[in-house]
Order: sequence, then C-alpha cells, then structure tokens
Amino acid sequence: MSIDFEQVSFAYDEHSLWRNSALEQISLHLETGVFAGIAGASGSGKSTLMQHFNGILKPTEGKLRVLDVTMQAGDKAPPLRELRRRVGLVFQFPEQQLFEDTVEKDICFGPLNFGCTPDEAKQRARRALSLVGLDDSFLPRNPFHLSGGQMRKVAIASVLAMEPDIIALDEPAATLDPQSRSELASMLSRLHREEGKTVLVVTHRMEEILPFADQWIVMEDGHKSFQGSVKELVQEAGRLQASGLAIPDCIRYWNEVAAHYGLEEEEPCLTAESLADRLAVLSDQVGNAVTPLPKEEAPLGLETSREGDG
Ligand SMILES: Nc1ncnc2c1ncn2[C@@H]1O[C@H](COP(=O)(O)OP(=O)(O)O)[C@@H](O)[C@H]1O
Ligand SMILES: [Mg+2]
Repeated sequence: MSIDFEQVSFAYDEHSLWRNSALEQISLHLETGVFAGIAGASGSGKSTLMQHFNGILKPTEGKLRVLDVTMQAGDKAPPLRELRRRVGLVFQFPEQQLFEDTVEKDICFGPLNFGCTPDEAKQRARRALSLVGLDDSFLPRNPFHLSGGQMRKVAIASVLAMEPDIIALDEPAATLDPQSRSELASMLSRLHREEGKTVLVVTHRMEEILPFADQWIVMEDGHKSFQGSVKELVQEAGRLQASGLAIPDCIRYWNEVAAHYGLEEEEPCLTAESLADRLAVLSDQVGNAVTPLPKEEAPLGLETSREGDG
C-alpha cells in the first residue's frame, strides 16, 4: 500500500479562461511507513498537494491512488469516508479546529462520529494524548486555556484518535517557539519509529525535520523539482538552492566539509553534534594532516542564530 500520483494536475480555477495550475503534472510514489518532508517556497503547491492525500481536493487531470482508493480526473468520486479516517490531515493552524470546552470532548469527537462507544472514545483520547506527550491531567482542561504548543499537540491528538495509518501535517511548527518546535519534531519521529505511522510533513523550514525524514519532495511553482533520499537531497542541494529553495545551513556545512575531506559518498551528518563528532574523528585519523576549515565556515553552533522567526 502506498501513495502514487500519475501526472496529476490541479487548478483551483479549472473553468476560468485564465486557468492557473497550482499543481502541474505531478508523478510521485511514497511507500507507506516513510517519514517524508515536502518542502518548497511559499505558493509552490505544498498545501494543495497535501490536500490530495485524502481527497479534499481531487485532480483536475491525471490519476492518483492513496492506500486502496483511486481518484481519477473526470471520474465520479469514490467513497472517501474510510480514506479520511486512515489519512489524517493536520492543517496549518489546527488549533482553529478545536471547539469543545474540554480536551477530552475535543479528542473524542472524531471517534464518536465514526461509531466508537463513549468508553472506546475515551480510551482512545487517553492514548492519543499520551502519544503527543501530554498526560491525563489535560483531559478535563479547556483547550483554549493551553499554551500554543499544547493546543497544537491536542489538535494532533484529535487526528491520532482516529487511528490513521498516514498522518500529513501542513507546517506543523509554524508560529511555535523553538522548544515547542523541537518537541513536535521529536514527537513526529516517535510516531514514525514506534507506532509505524507514515508521516508526511509540509514545511518551508527543512532543518526542523532534517534529521528524521528519510524521503524528501521539493515543490517549485506547482512542479515537483526533486524527490529522493536525504543523501540525494544533499547531493542536489546546489541545484535546488539555485532555483530558490532555502537549503538548511547544516546541508551547506556538510557539503563544504565533504568537499574539503572527500567525503561525498558518506551518509551526511545533519546536526551540529554529528558533524562535530565526525570532524573530531577525522582530525584524530589524520592528525595534523587535516587542514582546518576557514573560520567563517566552521560548522559548530549552526542553526542557533535562526530560531527567532516563525
Ligand atoms: N483556495 C485557493 N483558491 C485559489 N488559489 C489558491 C487557493 N489556495 C492556493 N491557491 C494558489 O495555488 C498555488 C499553490 O498554493 P499552495 O498550495 O497554498 O502553496 P504552498 O502551500 O506551497 O504555499 C498558489 O499560487 C496559490 O495562490
Ligand atoms: Mg501552504
């Protein structure tokens, strides 16, 4: 079971004279079980692509298959209720979808709607809350009195309570503080590793999930400009940057180090820590033969200056 797009195009203004494709001839394949990042500049089509994963948007041209459901442009829409349960979408500001006066009621809403008994729904709420790293003491609390990071976790728990196979999140860390952002990324990685969820994350800040994602798709102006492993992404960083993608500092540092020491075939080091460790080993191996990098390219402390925005 997987996600397959064949030449999918999508236009919001399909019938307009000035028709403008938000997606243009996208073909892609994502195996279930991956942790994939979907990157690209603002307006490149990331959110539009994501909304095709559970049939909120349907192709205006081409065909796609998600799990066992096929959608083809021009065909009658297949039943989507089960797909919507199995593919949980978390929108950019999911806390805007919270509406009950307790966390428990909010998380139980979906499961009850899908036929769970109240007891089952409550059990699922507890489990979903623990998956996002919040304990039962949150259940009776008013979701609107929580911090931004906690609200977002509750909103994600509401999706997890449906027990989806795939969870796709649109800019999940937008507007969160640095600590909440890093907690969120670790939580998604845990869902992937320990719960076997397929995790698809739309982001324009690639560094947030760089250590976790095993696949990347890059969108550019409605087209797919790249799909591949993180190693391939690192190898193509120059081309992608030239066409406008904001390449994370750690990829640029790794490429400098790799070029300097001839490590292009190695698995890239994508955190400050792993890069520092690798450099330490290199200097042990070759001792004084290693030429230090010029000071301004020294890789230590990378990312620390980039945490203020969002
Ligand atoms: N609801 C909409 N109606 C019309 N055009 C839209 C709508 N949503 C997005 N678009 C257009 O589709 C293109 C892709 O947008 P989007 O998928 O939101 O990109 P991203 O998520 O990468 O910022 C943009 O040109 C955007 O203006
Ligand atoms: Mg978007």
